[in-house]
Amino acid sequence: MALLEIKNVSKFFGGLAANSDVSFSMDEGMIMGLIGPNGAGKTTLFNCITGYYPPSRGEIVFAGRRMNGLQPDRVCKLGMARTWQKVRPLAKLSVLDNVMVGALCRTNSLSQAQELAMEQIRVVKLDHKTAFPAGGLTIGERKKLEVARVLATQPKLLLLDEVMGGLNPAESEEIIRLILAIKQKGVTQMVIEHDMKAIMRISDRIVVLNSGEKLAEGTPEEIVANPEVVTAYLGSD
Ligand SMILES: Nc1ncnc2c1ncn2[C@@H]1O[C@H](COP(=O)(O)OP(=O)(O)O)[C@@H](O)[C@H]1O
Ligand SMILES: [Mg+2]
Repeated sequence: MALLEIKNVSKFFGGLAANSDVSFSMDEGMIMGLIGPNGAGKTTLFNCITGYYPPSRGEIVFAGRRMNGLQPDRVCKLGMARTWQKVRPLAKLSVLDNVMVGALCRTNSLSQAQELAMEQIRVVKLDHKTAFPAGGLTIGERKKLEVARVLATQPKLLLLDEVMGGLNPAESEEIIRLILAIKQKGVTQMVIEHDMKAIMRISDRIVVLNSGEKLAEGTPEEIVANPEVVTAYLGSD
């Protein structure tokens, strides 16, 4: 059984179809890359999947359960967690407190939440910044904080929205390794990313969105060889 099924999902904003009849499914343990030009509807699809918007049409099925209409906190409890393209940490709170917010999805005990949070702060290698206010972090550190916060919710499916955006090559490499390490632990991931080299390297399969519609789906090799994808997105070089 697929872990996640997107069935004919559309999302309209007034007359604009940000997602238009999008369907695909994801098996447990895989990494699905989600690519497409700016405005293609990638973030909107994340918002529909994780309960921030109800889809206008279609169905989201997660672990056999229909998710339409569930609120984001409920979706998170059921095992889906997402990061935000525009990272917004609780600036005045420490790194530890920010990650504890995620952990509190699983426990009401502050000491247990602290333990869960510390574990994930170590995973993303931010332990030297545990007591620092999140507002003082560099963009690279903020992106790691974002990943630690969602990992602390102990997701089955992790949705990462441009976690490499704005990072230098060394920071991106760290994130790539982090994503691959998360995969090793058995967590399924959907990854929105513009860096084509990165997405080719980490993805088992790729879905391409263009103007809200699914333009193509396949292995990284199939996607780079697809003439429609090359025209719409990858460019001639
Ligand atoms: N809340 C919203 N209200 C109105 N239009 C929106 C909203 N969210 C996204 N859109 C529009 O939907 C389209 C897809 O946006 P988005 O999903 O952010 O694309 P991507 O993440 O692929 O860059 C864009 O034209 C965007 O302006
Ligand atoms: Mg986006």
